[in-house]
Amino acid sequence: MNSFMSWVGGKKALRDEIIVRLADSCDRYVEVFGGGGWVLFRKNPHPFEVYNDFNPNLTNLYRCVREHSQELHDELEYVLNSRLDFEYVREMLHSKTVLPDVRRAAYFYQVIRQSYASGLDSFGAQPCGMWEKFPIIRCAAGRLQRVVIENKDFEKLIVQYDRPNTQFYLDPPYYATEDYYEDVGFTRADHERLCNALLGIEGKFLLSYNDCPEIRELYSKPGITIETTTRLSNIAQRYDAGKQYPELLIANYDTLTEGILARQLTFFDDPEDIKSRIQERKVLWKPN
Ligand SMILES: C[S@@+](CC[C@H](N)C(=O)[O-])C[C@H]1O[C@@H](n2cnc3c(N)ncnc32)[C@H](O)[C@@H]1O
Repeated sequence: MNSFMSWVGGKKALRDEIIVRLADSCDRYVEVFGGGGWVLFRKNPHPFEVYNDFNPNLTNLYRCVREHSQELHDELEYVLNSRLDFEYVREMLHSKTVLPDVRRAAYFYQVIRQSYASGLDSFGAQPCGMWEKFPIIRCAAGRLQRVVIENKDFEKLIVQYDRPNTQFYLDPPYYATEDYYEDVGFTRADHERLCNALLGIEGKFLLSYNDCPEIRELYSKPGITIETTTRLSNIAQRYDAGKQYPELLIANYDTLTEGILARQLTFFDDPEDIKSRIQERKVLWKPN
């Protein structure tokens, strides 16, 4: 299924490439930088799953979708697509006003839906119906029923959930676009902190990043595989529609033998599709 919301940096275009590379042996799945959860909603459920994001408005929205989808529906039912209302709810979210959780979730969802390219800052002035989204919010509530929702900084989360059978999927703010996420304050130094947190784990990690020399260098380490791929970027679509952008997929295991080839072929998997993914695979770094 699709996510119920778009999100800056959302992995809609890359999610199938990511999912085929998840280690087949892991039964615990942890999405560390959850955002719109495009991978989580698309993949088959694992027996144990965690969605995490450091943005408290986002995790509150996820909890309200899961626990109070009817109340959220009621709050959203008569929302107007108006610049004045947009600016009012945006201001309320940034003020010290204490809002009930469901109202806060509805305001935040309204700002995501009505802002320009879901960037949360300016009114999009586009046709935007709330009602058309109610069925998918309902489906998301069902899908999230058994998902643990966390609101932690990545380092604490990784330590807490690390086990040999944990698959971490990580989609951090991209290098040099850290300030796109206004409520969390990811810094350049955090890329290095993330790398240090991942290098010693017992579990498996798969990391998606923008392709740049700094990240290539940071992860060119023993035991790490780095692949390149391209996708449409929803950040860049604002300025450069249709252009493909290079991405890195970085893992501490062999994504071919433990991911692509190890996956049981399901009814939906097309063997030709899997074959072409293998042929198109471009490995940049793989130590002996
Ligand atoms: C590129 S987005 C994730 C997009 C997501 N994969 C999707 O498909 O929509 C990065 C996310 O990391 C979150 N984030 C930023 N700093 C964080 C931190 N220190 N710990 C956990 N999450 C953080 C941001 O709030 C943002 O939602």
